[in-house]
Amino acid sequence: MFSQLSAPTPDAILALMTAFRADTRTDKVDLGVGVYRDASGDTPVLDAVREAEQRVFQAQQTKAYVGVAGDAVFCEEMIGMTLGSSVPAERVRCLQAPGGSGALRLVGELMNQAKHGARVFISDPSWPNHVPLLEAAGLEIHSYPYFDPDTRDVNIEGMLEGIAEAGPGDLVLLHGCCHNPTGASFSAEHWAAIAERAVAQGFVPFVDFAYQGFGEGLEEDAAGVRALAAVVPEMVLAASCSKNFGLYRERVGAAIVVAENATLADLAFRNAMSVARGSYSMPPDHGAAVVRAIMQDPSLKSRWITELDTMRKRMLDTRSELVTELRNATGSERFDFIGRHSGMFSRLGIPGAQIERMREEHGIYIVGDSRINVAGFKTGQAAKFAQALVATEA
Ligand code: LMR
Repeated sequence: MFSQLSAPTPDAILALMTAFRADTRTDKVDLGVGVYRDASGDTPVLDAVREAEQRVFQAQQTKAYVGVAGDAVFCEEMIGMTLGSSVPAERVRCLQAPGGSGALRLVGELMNQAKHGARVFISDPSWPNHVPLLEAAGLEIHSYPYFDPDTRDVNIEGMLEGIAEAGPGDLVLLHGCCHNPTGASFSAEHWAAIAERAVAQGFVPFVDFAYQGFGEGLEEDAAGVRALAAVVPEMVLAASCSKNFGLYRERVGAAIVVAENATLADLAFRNAMSVARGSYSMPPDHGAAVVRAIMQDPSLKSRWITELDTMRKRMLDTRSELVTELRNATGSERFDFIGRHSGMFSRLGIPGAQIERMREEHGIYIVGDSRINVAGFKTGQAAKFAQALVATEA
């Protein structure tokens, strides 16, 4: 049977990860996969996570299943973290999911169940896995313009025009904050304009919330999503704890649905449980139990928020350092947009041939669409990067 298979399209980010690992140069620079690193290049387990893990191990009495929807207290915490009090509780339901990607797939399949082949409008560009993942869920993929290549900011007029035909029964995928891959994220005014369109046109916002806390802060990053949730009758979210809790390999996510009323919320929830049951059956426990332990203990929670702020500030500092180094190296302000971007990524807009040369000649790994992970710079590497960028421009 296997001979019937055709070769799958490689995932650009995973392929780059493999290439980086195979590179034996000691001064190589990994600006590829979206994993936070400290100034030494490490991705340490957060202190709050370590402490919570100890508590979970001490308290755990069984390894019996947690249930299809996962842990209800974790889910309550995830609703609070993402939506705050923007929507009455009776209209919201949540399922624990295996990572943000698992939540995306679960929501995608749920919406496909609600309307077979429903259209989903995705930003161009977006995280490279959005299209294959949501296509596999059965949705029909459409795109909307998002990024202005000249200003490197959000092209809001282009976006609103691109989603003008989205109406009832359609989904519009929005990055909750810290747009991946561009780093150009919505302002409060942008969110207000999107909310107005969602209400007027009747499409369902589908929020991918993978980087909450990496932009302006945990609460600040949720402001746009909450403003939207407060006015639309229906909305779906896929939230991730990979980045903000550093729990990448534990696969912790949440699929959240906002319905018009409690009856529809229950119906959506029961359908989502059937989808989960027909796929991975029940979510893994450990990471979600750790998040629950942190969120339920005020002192642990405040330690976590301090650690999250430290990660965020390091990325902001690295952005400033990069802007300075690039100003010095290029004698221009053309890369100042890096300082305006938010979160983990910036799209540089440099050509593919230059990206290749930076990898081959300087050991600097950048995703092929010119996305850099600003958390990938170790101390001193911003200067090396700026020089390599200029050296490969000719
Ligand atoms: C990324 O965009 O690099 C991360 O979300 C990791 C991944 O799974 O692609």
